[in-house]
Amino acid sequence: MSAPFDRVWLNANLATMDGPGLGVIEDGAVAARGGRIAWVGPRAALPGPAAETIDCAGTWILPGLIDCHTHLVFGGDRADEFERRLAGEDYAAILAAGGGILSTMRATRAADEATLLAAALPRARALLAEGVTTLEIKSGYGLEQAAELRQLRVARRIAELLPVSVVTTLLAAHAVPPDYAGRRGDYARLVAEEIIPAAAGLADAVDVFHDRLAFDDADTLLVIAAARRAGLPFKLHGDQHADMGSAALGARHGALSVDHLERADAAGLAAMGAAGTVAVLLPGATYFLREAAMPDIAAMRAAGVRMALATDMNPGSSPAQSLLLMLNLGCTLFRLTVAEALRGVTVEAAAALGLADRGRLAPGLRCDLALFGVTRPAELCYWFGRNPCLGRVFLGRVLEG
Ligand code: NIG
Ligand code: FE
Repeated sequence: MSAPFDRVWLNANLATMDGPGLGVIEDGAVAARGGRIAWVGPRAALPGPAAETIDCAGTWILPGLIDCHTHLVFGGDRADEFERRLAGEDYAAILAAGGGILSTMRATRAADEATLLAAALPRARALLAEGVTTLEIKSGYGLEQAAELRQLRVARRIAELLPVSVVTTLLAAHAVPPDYAGRRGDYARLVAEEIIPAAAGLADAVDVFHDRLAFDDADTLLVIAAARRAGLPFKLHGDQHADMGSAALGARHGALSVDHLERADAAGLAAMGAAGTVAVLLPGATYFLREAAMPDIAAMRAAGVRMALATDMNPGSSPAQSLLLMLNLGCTLFRLTVAEALRGVTVEAAAALGLADRGRLAPGLRCDLALFGVTRPAELCYWFGRNPCLGRVFLGRVLEG
């Protein structure tokens, strides 16, 4: 008779993320069959043999990490803008003068698919090396149909070339392109009426930068309605540079997540809690823009808001190549607990992407695992600038580093 499991990981400590906290099982075992988790529990209770047994020698196993908010496909970089900001210039003023997101737009429009891919692959690999198995990638630096779709195609290509699951998000409503200067509403209509329908099959979701630097309520509602017509879930970049009421708007219209939220008010956060809209926290942007405002974590806790944590990897506000660093920043800057931070890059990040098949160690879910050489989970949040990831498992397949 063949073994009931393809592969089993033994002698491991598990942070399953099942239940309210870390869901720790010390001296545990995970068994896989057909790329899925078939069994999880204490080693002593493991029901049967496996074709292959892996001794983890006390390693900690987490669900494969999920970076649920990145903009990692883009042309050029903004190191020059960083220097200008160091000399006193302001992020919003640089954008208003045609730089910022618009300078990345120019570099992205000028880059062909191969160039964008070659630049994006090392960024993706850096995340994978830390245990990431699912990655969200937004467009938003094309700001015209052809270049937006090119970004999405490159994002899809990454999932063909690397062992990672990629979720694509169309963020054509990221800034008003120069050709539409002074005609923001017209550009929002173009996004709603042409770009979103054209992205069918290439985009898994739609995002809008609902911000005083970008799109207002009316523009945002147009885009949300178009996403709905296309059968796509949507999310917002919201309440980042001002309290725009993004939290309440996202909750009211059924957003999967509202991301940033540095300036969201308690009533909006309460609405998110009631609606089950996930808050995606992006401490890399808070840190890099030296923002004084921090998301109101106490209000989120009080309202039972689900909190995810992500890199926001992008050239302007968070050129962060490390999700593990975000664990540290989430704890130090936002005062997240270790459990909140680690759930934020696993189970809650899956929720922010609308994915129910990952983010926890539980039977039936994808067997995507991250293995770490630490003695307790808190170390993953404590060290920074160090990568303790020993390996990844992607759909039951063992990968090194
Ligand atoms: O998530 N907030 C809007 N978009 C990005 C920044 C984009 C940029 O500066 O290039 C963000 O922070
Ligand atoms: Fe972002």
